[in-house]
Amino acid sequence: MSAEQRPPFLDLPPIHHAQGVMQLPGSKSISIRMLLLAALAEGKTVLTGVLDSDDTRVMRGALEACGVRIEAQTGKRVEAQLIVHGAGRFPKTEADIFLGNSGLSARTLVAVLAFMGGRYRLSGVPRMHERPIADLVDALLPVGAKISYEKQQGFPPLKIEPGQPKLEQAIRVRGDASSQFLTGLLQAAPLLTAKQDLVIEVEGELISKPYIDLTLALMQRFGVKVQTGVTAAGSPRYVVTAGARYVSPGAMAVEGDASSASYFLALGALTGGPIRVQGMGRTSLQGDVRFAEALSMMGASITQGDAWTEAISPGAVSTNATGFRLKAIDADFNHIPDAAMTLAVLALFADGSSTLRNIGSWRVKETDRIAAMATELRKLGADVYAGADFLRVTPPEGGIAALKSATIDTYDDHRMAMCFSLVTCAGIPIRINDPACVAKTFPTYFDELARLTQPVVQSTKTVSANKTVPVIAIDGPTASGKGTVAQRIAAALGFHYLDSGALYRLAALAAKNRNIRLNQPNEIAAVARNLEVEFQDGRIFLDGDDVTDLIRAEWVGNAASTIAVFPELRAALVQRQHAFRHAPGLVADGRDMGTVIFPDASLKVFLTATAEARAQRRHKQLIEKGISANIDILLRDLQERDARDASRSSAPLIPAEDAVKIETSNLGVDEVVNKILDLARKKM
Ligand code: DC
Repeated sequence: MSAEQRPPFLDLPPIHHAQGVMQLPGSKSISIRMLLLAALAEGKTVLTGVLDSDDTRVMRGALEACGVRIEAQTGKRVEAQLIVHGAGRFPKTEADIFLGNSGLSARTLVAVLAFMGGRYRLSGVPRMHERPIADLVDALLPVGAKISYEKQQGFPPLKIEPGQPKLEQAIRVRGDASSQFLTGLLQAAPLLTAKQDLVIEVEGELISKPYIDLTLALMQRFGVKVQTGVTAAGSPRYVVTAGARYVSPGAMAVEGDASSASYFLALGALTGGPIRVQGMGRTSLQGDVRFAEALSMMGASITQGDAWTEAISPGAVSTNATGFRLKAIDADFNHIPDAAMTLAVLALFADGSSTLRNIGSWRVKETDRIAAMATELRKLGADVYAGADFLRVTPPEGGIAALKSATIDTYDDHRMAMCFSLVTCAGIPIRINDPACVAKTFPTYFDELARLTQPVVQSTKTVSANKTVPVIAIDGPTASGKGTVAQRIAAALGFHYLDSGALYRLAALAAKNRNIRLNQPNEIAAVARNLEVEFQDGRIFLDGDDVTDLIRAEWVGNAASTIAVFPELRAALVQRQHAFRHAPGLVADGRDMGTVIFPDASLKVFLTATAEARAQRRHKQLIEKGISANIDILLRDLQERDARDASRSSAPLIPAEDAVKIETSNLGVDEVVNKILDLARKKM
């Protein structure tokens, strides 16, 4: 968006309540790293869930300028899938590269291009030309790189010419200004290790270490294992052995952005919630997942699954944000510098002074974040002390009620805009200048905020309406007849119908279509989240194709059962299933309808039948459709699938405690339907 088109400000109304589930955009840190690694890898890499934002476009544009072929999957969600044709070495040996204001792209590209054997010029927006890069250049020059400054010493724009690696000595890099320099050197390592090992040593302290752990984890996914140790002085030391090279892992999914999650978790903590973020949880690789710990130190209640995190207020206040205070904190936030900005704003809601320590890296980010944060917090009435590498925030004496509405400047810094939007939870309006700066990492941020913060009357209505919509949950093993029975009951009562098994089948089919193997839970979950599915007049469409019959194939059912064991996939499908709950009611069939998805269902039924009876039914169905089938093989498959569905640790196939069990081996469909309709009449 050009400067002229950007709206000058956005007026945000007070927020009194927020709740709901949001899907996080892809992680910026992972997207940028993966794009570069995929470009350097041998082979094609299919990246799912790559963040589509200003910064990731910078990296993509730079790689394309260097001749790397990147295809975007066409469709409604352009960012959903990128196919990177790895080049090993970049095809073009001359390019003028625009870095925007993406620090990570700049620092990782410089290190890579220094040994690519070509001539490159790198420049960015004016702020990029104020962001120091000397620590990286100083590390690269002694080992043979040829890099010069076009204007001011120590800052971009840069000119890179072909260098000759000289690796007799270790590469030494300072780690106390930004860990991105080290990430750049590490990622470039395989370009230097054709003949010998490469040793990288950090001089002095290494800040933001979790970002280095992320770099190492992703390099390993691309086949390069870095050995870690310590120097004599006790600083980190890394060794990449001769012959190391990147190899495409095939397909990879990008996790949700943990820094972006911080605003929504804070929102849940400030307004009651619950707010659940999907795409980031216990198993996340990103350092900023630890924001949740800080939030719970401030008193919020946090629950977490492998791929989701949920926050509610201390004491789960109902609708009024002013009725409670968070606990003030004083801690070292070197490990979560980005998410710590959110804590600085949360400090306004605390019961005393909060101190954020060891955040010196803020000074060289999109703007001098310590200075910017202090200036803007003071506008609201806080007392702020800005140290060289720390910030102390004291809310006004009267607490939240004494906060003043203000116009917040954002300094072309996405995080300033997103953090300060949370001040509205104090029940005051806020004006955010240049709101479009959020496009750097989260173009739809304000839309998401609005969606989760509907006025309280509306939100209570939606929730209670939704919760009062009756659900009949019908669970049971494969071929127990639950699909046929559930559809008949839905038709008899005029209810909506959810065939949850179809969602697992669709996920399996979509994964196959995208060449994703069945042992890649994160990738499969990402596919499931982005499924383009339509249920229309009894037909099911996937990516626009009618797959109603195809998903009934035995191989799809077996694949569905195989992937259904992954908690990541199950979490990815929860919201889709809840979305079927509409008035006047819902009949849902599956394996965990009564236990996990609709535990508050008005009626829960568990259908059983002997394996032999079910194999007979399935055989008859197939023969009727003109498909030849062997009953022994059907029986064996069915027993295997039962065992898998029943023994998985996540949402296994078991009856809910309050389910009514019906053994159907000797019953016809009409008999089962009538029994359930009778129960429904009595119970609902
Ligand atoms: O009901 P079905 O055969 O269409 O389901 C296919 C597979 O999907 C099944 O073997 C297990 C899985 N599934 C599940 O785990 N949970 C559900 N609620 C529905 C299906």
